[in-house]
Amino acid sequence: MRALILCLTVIAESTTNSGIYTKEQALRGERSYGESCARCHGANLMGGEGGSPALTGEEFLSRWTGKSAGDLFEGTRKTMPTDDPAGLPRQQYADLVAYLFQANGFPAGDRELPRDLPALNQIRIEKKK
Ligand code: HEC
Repeated sequence: MRALILCLTVIAESTTNSGIYTKEQALRGERSYGESCARCHGANLMGGEGGSPALTGEEFLSRWTGKSAGDLFEGTRKTMPTDDPAGLPRQQYADLVAYLFQANGFPAGDRELPRDLPALNQIRIEKKK
């Protein structure tokens, strides 16, 4: 019984290495990024003037490793863009997070990154494989 529960837990928990967004979704995210985020974080996500941090690379990833996709989604949604927090539809934040995962080298899969928090909380951000 215990082994069964353990096994189910393992199946339920996915990580950024298990294909948790689609290419199409990341493409939508890339478009929104260009419209709403690039002016601060830079077209190449390397950060910009006024203290906007890079959204790719070791430093960014190490800050989020061990947290959940829900943490990144909610953190971004509640504070970004800084001049209009929570100003975009939830779906757009999900697409943006998918784009960030792609930009950080995580693999795409055949299911979209969800936009509801309980599901996002099931996805752990881990080091790249
Ligand atoms: C007006 C400038 C500005 C815009 C536009 C903006 N950001 Fe930011 N962003 C910042 C600043 C400054 C920080 C760092 C301070 C903070 O976290 O509030 C930040 C932090 C972040 C972080 C946390 C970075 C980390 O290392 O943990 C994420 C993720 C993020 N932004 C994503 C986005 C996304 C996605 C958009 C587009 C919807 C966006 N930002 C639009 C200025 C901006």
